[in-house]
Formats: sequence, structure tokens, C-alpha cells
Amino acid sequence: MGTPGGKNVREGFLIMNATKKDAVLQLMDVKKIFAQGTVDEVTALNGVSLTVYDQDFISIIGSNGAGKSTLLNIVAGVFPPERGGRVIINGDDVTNLEEFKHATYAGRVWQQPGVGTAGNLTLEENLSLALLRGKRRGIRAAINKQRRQLFYEALTPLGLCLEDRLTALAGTLSGGQRQALSLVMATISKPAILLLDEHTATLDPKTGQTVLSLTEMIVERERMTTIMVTHNMEMALKYGNRLVMMHQGKIVVDMDEEEKRSLAVNDLVTAFEQASGEQFKDDSILLSHR
Ligand SMILES: Nc1ncnc2c1ncn2[C@@H]1O[C@H](COP(=O)(O)OP(=O)(O)O)[C@@H](O)[C@H]1O
Ligand SMILES: [Mg+2]
Repeated sequence: MGTPGGKNVREGFLIMNATKKDAVLQLMDVKKIFAQGTVDEVTALNGVSLTVYDQDFISIIGSNGAGKSTLLNIVAGVFPPERGGRVIINGDDVTNLEEFKHATYAGRVWQQPGVGTAGNLTLEENLSLALLRGKRRGIRAAINKQRRQLFYEALTPLGLCLEDRLTALAGTLSGGQRQALSLVMATISKPAILLLDEHTATLDPKTGQTVLSLTEMIVERERMTTIMVTHNMEMALKYGNRLVMMHQGKIVVDMDEEEKRSLAVNDLVTAFEQASGEQFKDDSILLSHR
């Protein structure tokens, strides 16, 4: 994303995107307070506004408890934001839409491979359910020849031979294979946005790399607009065209591709400290190589 002129960079950036690309997701002043009015009250999101454009791939990084998963939960409709906040996807106001109706808008992959896939169902049953998510009732879950062909075509490019195991139980797959299946499930019904929540964090580094490469491939092939939460700064720098940092329920850094291209992990720490006014304390982010 260029910033023509050089003067008033932010404005130029916004105008360019508004004219050249469509906004897929708009978050407006999104707040989330848990256990409000009790001693356990937590402000997980404290006024987040973010516009995600068509085919943006945003990496989100931030320390534990910064509000990253809460943000994805709001986009996925797990719960609504506090009153006054708005969530717009593809021009539709989905702020108060029930979670199951969000499925046509957002596909998701979680940290735990077991969450996105049902271990006691076969691969093709899992994929069928994913295909039906968010659709009107009455559409049958039957697995026919045409669907098998679709699943075959979706799995083959992964290079994991999962297409030969359509009738195997998902529970027999390894963690990495299950995350790959989750990625296909999250994208097969072509949702408006793909949400990845530290989806490689429980995998060993090598498998994590494989799943990241598959992520990139699927995102490119399906032209997905993507938000990927990661706990790893190197990963955040390497993947995506935008990098967002969160701190205490707020977005404190939002960089475009040009800005992040020249940065190393140390520069990110500096950017974080300048934006938040605090020292960067979360060693797990700096030391994590997953
Ligand atoms: N369902 C919930 N109930 C109560 N508190 C929650 C809930 N989900 C998250 N929180 C709290 O909100 C804050 C942000 O959490 P989260 O969004 O999970 O952070 P992150 O994903 O950045 O680590 C944390 O303090 C967390 O304990
Ligand atoms: Mg989280």
C-alpha cells in the first residue's frame, strides 16, 4: 500500500484504500467488559476501531490478556460488544447477529486442533458440516459424489494426502493435519473473513511452519481477507500486509506493508514501547519461535 505525496501519510492511506479497495470489516468503537459491576470486572476491549480491506492479511500481536481473542470473538459473534460499538461485515451490520448466522461472514481456526474439528466424525463429515455452517436449515448434509469431489479438490493441494482419507476419523489425524483440515473447513464455504487465533501455537516448530505455509497458500488461492493472531513477532513481521499491536484492550500500532518491511523484532519492541508508553515485558513473545 503506497502513501502518495508523503504529506499527511495517514490521510493518503485512507483515501487510497477507500477508493481502490472495499472495506470487508469495520469495527467502530468496540468495547467489551466482562463481569461488569463485580470485583472481577475486566475491560477486555477498550474502544477498538479498525477497518479491514478486501484481501488484507493482518497479523495481530500483543501480550497475554491484551484482548486479541476477545476481538476475534466479537467478529465471530460469540458475544456482542457493549452498546455503542458496531461491527460491519461487507456492509451488513452484524453487531447483534446470533453466532450461527455469523458463520457466513467469518471462518475460524482456534489454537487447539480439537476445537475446530470433531474427532469422532470422519473428514468428509467434518467438511460437510463446515459447508453447511450458516446456511438455511433444510439443506441436506448428505455426502454425494459432487461433494466428495469438492473435498478432494480442497484437500489435495495441502500435500498431506488427506484426500485419500476422507472416510477416516478426524481424531486419527496429527495436530498439524487437524489444523490443516480446520483451515480448509474455515474457508470452504467462502466466508467474508478468516480468523486465526494462534493456530500454530500448540504445534512443534516444524509443523507450525508447514501449517503457516498452508495458511498462506489457502489465503492466496481463496483470496481471503484474514486476521491472524500470533504470539510470535517474527511471524507477525513475516506474514501479512498489515501488522497490528494490541495493549490493554486497545490497538496501539497499525502498520502497513511498507512500514513493516524494513523492521526487525527489536524495532517492533521499540514501536510498541513508544506507542504504549510502557516497557515491553512479555518475554514469551520475544523468546517464542513458534
Ligand atoms: N469469557 C470471559 N470471561 C471473563 N473474562 C474474560 C473472558 N474472556 C477474556 N477475558 C479476560 O479479558 C482479557 C482479555 O482476554 P483475551 O482477549 O483472551 O486476551 P488475549 O487473547 O490477548 O490473550 C483478559 O483479562 C481475560 O482474562
Ligand atoms: Mg488469546
